[in-house]
Amino acid sequence: MCGIVGYVGKQKAVSILLEGLKRLEYRGYDSAGVCVLQGGKLDVAKKAGRVANLVKEAATHRLNGTTGIGHTRWATHGGVTDANAHPHVSSDGKFALIHNGVIENYAQMKRFLLEKGYTFQSETDTEVLCNLIAYHYAKEPAGNHGTNRFLESVRKALGHVEGTYGIAVLCVDYPSELVAARKASPLILGVGDEEYIVASDASALVSRTQNVVYLKDGEIVHLTPKTFSITTLDQADVSPVVDRITWSVTDADKGDFAHFMEKEIFEQPVALENTMRGRFSEDGSTANFGGLNVTAAEFRQIDRFLFCACGTAWHACLVTEHLIERFARIPVEVDYASEFRYRNAPLHSNTLFFVISQSGETIDTLAALREAKRKGYKALAINNVVGSSLAREADGGIYQHVGPEIGVASTKAFTSQIMVGAMVALYLARMRDMSFSDGVEYVNALKGAPALVRQALAQAPKIREIAKRYAKYHDMLFLGRLSLFPLALEGALKLKEISYIHAEGYPAAEMKHGPIALISDKCPSVFFAPAGDIFPKIVSSMQEIKARKGPIIAIVTEGADLPPGLADEVITIPHCHEAVLPMVAAIPVQLLSYYIAVERGCDVDKPRNLAKSVTVE
Ligand code: F6R
Repeated sequence: MCGIVGYVGKQKAVSILLEGLKRLEYRGYDSAGVCVLQGGKLDVAKKAGRVANLVKEAATHRLNGTTGIGHTRWATHGGVTDANAHPHVSSDGKFALIHNGVIENYAQMKRFLLEKGYTFQSETDTEVLCNLIAYHYAKEPAGNHGTNRFLESVRKALGHVEGTYGIAVLCVDYPSELVAARKASPLILGVGDEEYIVASDASALVSRTQNVVYLKDGEIVHLTPKTFSITTLDQADVSPVVDRITWSVTDADKGDFAHFMEKEIFEQPVALENTMRGRFSEDGSTANFGGLNVTAAEFRQIDRFLFCACGTAWHACLVTEHLIERFARIPVEVDYASEFRYRNAPLHSNTLFFVISQSGETIDTLAALREAKRKGYKALAINNVVGSSLAREADGGIYQHVGPEIGVASTKAFTSQIMVGAMVALYLARMRDMSFSDGVEYVNALKGAPALVRQALAQAPKIREIAKRYAKYHDMLFLGRLSLFPLALEGALKLKEISYIHAEGYPAAEMKHGPIALISDKCPSVFFAPAGDIFPKIVSSMQEIKARKGPIIAIVTEGADLPPGLADEVITIPHCHEAVLPMVAAIPVQLLSYYIAVERGCDVDKPRNLAKSVTVE
């Protein structure tokens, strides 16, 4: 969704802002803009469309100042137009503002400001906030109480806001200062060498510094080129904690890959190693987690788990459900975070609540966590982005440690979430009935996962050829059973989001209860058919499809003996332990979706209408 970057320092701001905006492109946006303070005035360049359009527009503005703000907008209030793009400037010309989030009471504030003579150029809620700051600035006599009038006007205006925001503000009367604040929208301060950068995402600042302060909700930061101070909305001083980002700018580059998605698919063996690192017990029979903040004794009291998430992370919850129930024999419920937050579900008293989220900023997932905590449940998070809102608000959790995921379609974060789920299942199982030797076998299987994923990735050339034959279809079904049913859902989601082919995922045996009506030579089916007890049942489902002329792509494990001619295409993945199978099975569907999207000429890393982290409802 929207991205923020702001700069105060010695360098020309515009190039740093545009570079930051390019690095934020992956989050999804529809327009972009910058504002630089120079010669006592605010110079704004903004354009609907890609950052590339903005770069051309900015080149016509001679932006030389060293203080500036930049924004990528994902439309909420008002259409995708140049006028609605940020930054917005107050009608008195004194303030420029960029904003992520939604101001819920903007209409009421707008009426008030119109009565006071303020005028508006856009349909956005952001412009209302910008004018509200100008209003408070005009009301406050200069130098009142020796405070910074710019900072205090922002603070006053924010005191009236209902909703969510990450903002950065410039004021013409304070030519080398910037004020930024957050409430439920991410904001990070980068502490550089006589320069500061604020950004909604570390990728926009990591090329200049790895030292960061993760701002908390209700905090306001005031920047000059040499100083920064953080206070709360209530004017209390905050002692900042400077953290270090553990990844560098090269991790956020595509390298030799055509797309971030492709890079991240091929990074999965390393990503899984990083997720596991240091998390097995010395005797090699169970998992250890540093930050759960739940003792073994407390875990023993837990009768059930509730997992909540959205999208791909929700599919990782479903796999985790299967693994915990199968190996630890503890009931698990999985809910969409967006549903859980409103449906007031009755929960068993000894329930432990978990959320899974790559970004840690998905608003529905955050709201579900807050709802569980409000009801008095302990709430843990499985999350990739260090210092995210979720990581801070959860009672404890497990970081995925897979580095930045830039491709909008989640790949390495998904398999790493399954890895964490598999480790949690092991930990719980070893506290109950799993024997030492079964634990050792399980641990060794997980340690072997990266090599098996590598073997599955070796099928890429074959899958690319298959993709060429299937890119012309308009509909596709993905079918799997047990722990691979969530993989069927994930395969369908991957395909639809990046190639715009309509796709559905079902448990294979459900197919005959309705979806079979869709089957014809125009609707291929992708089947997960691993060897095992259920294999003959999956073969029966395939035969039902074949009888109706449906093309079949079968993803089988070594040793699965398909009747000759049943499948039109066969992709073989290695035989794996049950806990590892979902990670390995993810590879062919990720590759198939990716190559089909490329074949159809789709913009894989920036699929239409999608945003990397969904921070509005
Ligand atoms: C799909 C995808 C989304 C996300 C979902 C949750 O490829 O990436 O479905 O999984 O928006 O995002 P996080 O995990 O950041 O909470």
